[in-house]
Amino acid sequence: MNVLHIVGARPNFMKVAPVLNALNSRKHIVQTLVHTGQHYDANMSDVFLEQLGIPAPDVNLAVGSGSHAQQTAAIMTRFEPVALERNPDIVLVYGDVNSTVAAALVCAKLGIRVGHVEAGLRSFDRTMPEEINRLVTDQLADVLYTPSEDGDVNLQREGIPAEKIFRVGNVMIDSLVKLLPLAQRQRNNTLPDRYALVTLHRPANVDDSAALKSILQSLLEVNRDLAVLFPAHPRTRQRISDFGLNAGQLQLFDPLPYVDFLALQSRATVVITDSGGIQEETTYLGVPCLTLRENTERPVTISLGTNVLVGRDPNKLWSELSLVLAGKAKKGTIPPLWDGHTGERIAALLAP
Ligand code: UD1
Repeated sequence: MNVLHIVGARPNFMKVAPVLNALNSRKHIVQTLVHTGQHYDANMSDVFLEQLGIPAPDVNLAVGSGSHAQQTAAIMTRFEPVALERNPDIVLVYGDVNSTVAAALVCAKLGIRVGHVEAGLRSFDRTMPEEINRLVTDQLADVLYTPSEDGDVNLQREGIPAEKIFRVGNVMIDSLVKLLPLAQRQRNNTLPDRYALVTLHRPANVDDSAALKSILQSLLEVNRDLAVLFPAHPRTRQRISDFGLNAGQLQLFDPLPYVDFLALQSRATVVITDSGGIQEETTYLGVPCLTLRENTERPVTISLGTNVLVGRDPNKLWSELSLVLAGKAKKGTIPPLWDGHTGERIAALLAP
């Protein structure tokens, strides 16, 4: 059996690694790894492959940045001949980034089977580019691997037959479980005892100067009580400078490698973020998470986990942060099937 994995952006790498590894131990499986090049900075891509033990991609489409249409179209045009040449039995796509939807579209038109890992998540907010990517990818996929029950419910509501849906758990948590011991052994004597770890990159938060300014002001206030550590996505850095904003005393630095970021997360007093994956990682780690969004496609992190949506309301951020500082943060539990064995379950379904 010939399995082709396609990845492109930072959040894809921790999802593909467990599946690649689990399939490696099975006989008669030939694997091909295609990197679209959606993320290309060493600290957004190469360092993740290295730390997660992902082999060098067989093909790099080197598409780089662009508008959504340009980037999606470039991936499609460059991936089509690769898919034809490699002739896989199935293409596995991951998550909800532009690389995911572009590859799914190419395969659907070529009649190549598509498996979607992390299917069924919905924010019900079509202004998010990722929501469009999720909806389209799930309609095109032949096999849908979901992380939690809400995924199954969403897919069936959209008319996807139950036979195509497999609840396998959260594959990204496999990578976390594997590398957490290494992260916990990391020593960093310069770290404050208590700190807020911040990440920010959603277009709704950073592409609008008023929104970004207001978030930075809130963070500067947080910083008076609790040191703010802020590894900034290149897009966020760029916007702060484009809009001439002041990040003042905030400790802004470049995006961190996976293990280093995990180490910071696992010791944080609180995480403040607009990322999807970090809402899940903090839930697993039992670290309080305040999410700077009005909605989430990962509701289980709220119903079972440590996540609280604070939107863009500085008062809400402040009141939730006060609870954390008073030792009254929301307690959570780890959702079912977030156990480090999701990659194996996917491999067992693909190659019984
Ligand atoms: C993408 C995903 C998002 C994911 C995020 C994680 C989509 C629609 N969005 O958003 O779901 O949470 O990755 O990081 O696919 N840039 C660099 N170096 C890089 C990559 C990007 O400098 O290696 C800069 C470029 O200025 C680029 C901008 O970041 O224009 C945005 O990159 P892009 O891939 O379009 O989307 P992300 O915001 O990274």
